[in-house]
Amino acid sequence: MFDQLFKKKDNTSSHHSRPAMSEVEINANKALIRHLLKSTNRAGMEKVLEYLDAKDFYAAPSSSHRHHNWRGGLAQHSIDVFKTALSFDDALPADSVIITGLLHDIYKAGKYFIDSTGVIRKRSDHPKGHGRRSILLLQELGLTLTEDERLAIRWHAGGNSASEEDAADVEKARLSPLWKAINRADTLNSKQHLG
Ligand SMILES: [Fe+2]
Repeated sequence: MFDQLFKKKDNTSSHHSRPAMSEVEINANKALIRHLLKSTNRAGMEKVLEYLDAKDFYAAPSSSHRHHNWRGGLAQHSIDVFKTALSFDDALPADSVIITGLLHDIYKAGKYFIDSTGVIRKRSDHPKGHGRRSILLLQELGLTLTEDERLAIRWHAGGNSASEEDAADVEKARLSPLWKAINRADTLNSKQHLG
């Protein structure tokens, strides 16, 4: 399954913001994400898939002024993080890389909208802290996560600004090869697609 993925055009090469993706590209990403998430057979995944549909995850931008600030950018970034993390460490369990790569930013869906003039804007009422909120959301939806997966999503941005009471959790994350791969892939891919 993965061989085929890596044969596709590599979208991780360095370039800056780009025009909105076509419907065909967005639908292809949607089909790929749904296929991969379903392939994990993880308890609770159906509800997560329903949420992604309801929030228009596949067409959402990832930001207004930072990385992947175009229609479909969030799904593209999520796929790129999954692929890049897997290429860093192919000894990791595939289902864990799929779940953490594709869902680490799930809470960003619904954070931005495209106004009538085509400008991406942030919803002022969308709460901050998407690492923590992505985990809370996945737990709320009833997705079963391993401890390594929880740590990788919770601290995917690095945990440098974590509070003192979270310091031990961050330390634990940093010992996890899954966290290392997701953190490195996310950092790299975010920098490559700055708006
Ligand atoms: Fe990310």
